[in-house]
Amino acid sequence: MRKKVIAGNWKMNFTPTKAEEFAQEMKNKINTDAVDVVICVPYVNLQSVQKVFEGTHIKVGAQNMHYMDDGAYTGEISGLMLGDMGVPYVIIGHSERRERFGETDTTINLKTLKALEHGITPIICVGESQKQRKSGRTENVLRKQIAFALDELSASDVTKVVIAYEPIWAIGTGEVATSKQANEACAFIRGQIHKRFGDSAAACVRILYGGSVTDETANELFSMSDIDGGLIGGASVVPSFEKVVHFG
Ligand code: PGA
Repeated sequence: MRKKVIAGNWKMNFTPTKAEEFAQEMKNKINTDAVDVVICVPYVNLQSVQKVFEGTHIKVGAQNMHYMDDGAYTGEISGLMLGDMGVPYVIIGHSERRERFGETDTTINLKTLKALEHGITPIICVGESQKQRKSGRTENVLRKQIAFALDELSASDVTKVVIAYEPIWAIGTGEVATSKQANEACAFIRGQIHKRFGDSAAACVRILYGGSVTDETANELFSMSDIDGGLIGGASVVPSFEKVVHFG
């Protein structure tokens, strides 16, 4: 049985003051260890939000990291630094980073390997654009993104990663994939992992759906056979996030 993961992605929202207030509100409302709850916050909010959630089941993650441990990379944050802060999860290769910050399949692979080296669970994002889906290329895109991201990982490494299927057309648009579409894509990804890494990796790897999930759609999506939870953007920075975590 795969334990579900509900990961919030705050993106570039909340000042440190607001972050602490909102985290406190979530702490009072979220009370479950039936799923793994992770909240991925801006770097400047990591420590204060970690403090708020201390002693609870809620984990605090980051939204990106560099693939080098240290060096002349002005403005970057490394996996070594995050590991030292006790950050257990990091989002890798979000489509906003692929599109706007030059993230490539190669950097995503390097970051994935580095996160694992530091004992941090990478939440690797993959997903097709509207144009790619309309022209029937969804599976090709996913095949390629998964193949690159997991290059040089062992089957046992793969059991430690989380994959988020996030169709770009559904992110922040209010246009959520149907549970059938989302499940099909997650099952396809699991099939790719099965082919390359075998039964146990495919059975263990957790594959999330992300893209306009709300407390109203969470339950149906997360009940599907191959969807092991969600990566939640807009609905993670509002009080009703608590309902997403408890599946509506
Ligand atoms: P959304 O974002 O839930 O606002 O669509 C999801 C994400 O970008 O991870």
